[in-house]
Amino acid sequence: MKKARAEGYRCRAAYKLLALEQRYGFLKGARVIIDLGAAPGGWSQVLAQNRSSPLGENLLLIAVDSRPLSPIEGITFVQGMFEDEGTQRYLASLLQGRAVDVVLSDMAPNTIGRRQIDHLQSLALAEEAYAFARQYLVSGGHFVTKIFQGGAEKSLFEDLRQNFQNVSFAKPQASRTESCERYLVAMTFRKALPL
Ligand SMILES: C[S@@+](CC[C@H](N)C(=O)[O-])C[C@H]1O[C@@H](n2cnc3c(N)ncnc32)[C@H](O)[C@@H]1O
Repeated sequence: MKKARAEGYRCRAAYKLLALEQRYGFLKGARVIIDLGAAPGGWSQVLAQNRSSPLGENLLLIAVDSRPLSPIEGITFVQGMFEDEGTQRYLASLLQGRAVDVVLSDMAPNTIGRRQIDHLQSLALAEEAYAFARQYLVSGGHFVTKIFQGGAEKSLFEDLRQNFQNVSFAKPQASRTESCERYLVAMTFRKALPL
């Protein structure tokens, strides 16, 4: 946390996104990015740093969280439960028909210390994020989601494999060794053509 503060990040979670991006490069060239479970804002800070790139002008960076987020320049923040109909409608209105290049979800349930329950709740959030990604991702887009491992994530993994070119599990160094947190990184969405 000390290092994060010294380097201007709100939390060490920023380093997880930096490490994932360094390994997979899913943010390269992305213009519309959704950051789900964004508070306190480490990932959004990383995304906002990209605004100085030549693509900066066209960037639309939307962050969502049920908790408040102190403002970050360049980030449009939506406060609400992601799965609520009102939140989803508001997101759609912000997108104004623009397709999304990358959907990131670092959403995590309030853990209660019972591993299987925490696991299933985190999976439910990942499934919500995936449903959104399937609806809005551009063909070739990318989806990254946190999950707490526990067994049931295999069906999500298989489902992702049907719809993306490459899918893998990742555990960035900044993620605590004892935590069962993993990231599913799904690259290159194969969007189904409308019938
Ligand atoms: C681990 S934190 C995210 C950290 C963030 N990526 C960062 O870099 O600061 C998980 C976040 O998910 C949010 N969250 C959990 N369930 C949610 C839901 N259903 N809708 C919106 N946000 C949710 C929590 O409020 C919490 O802020």
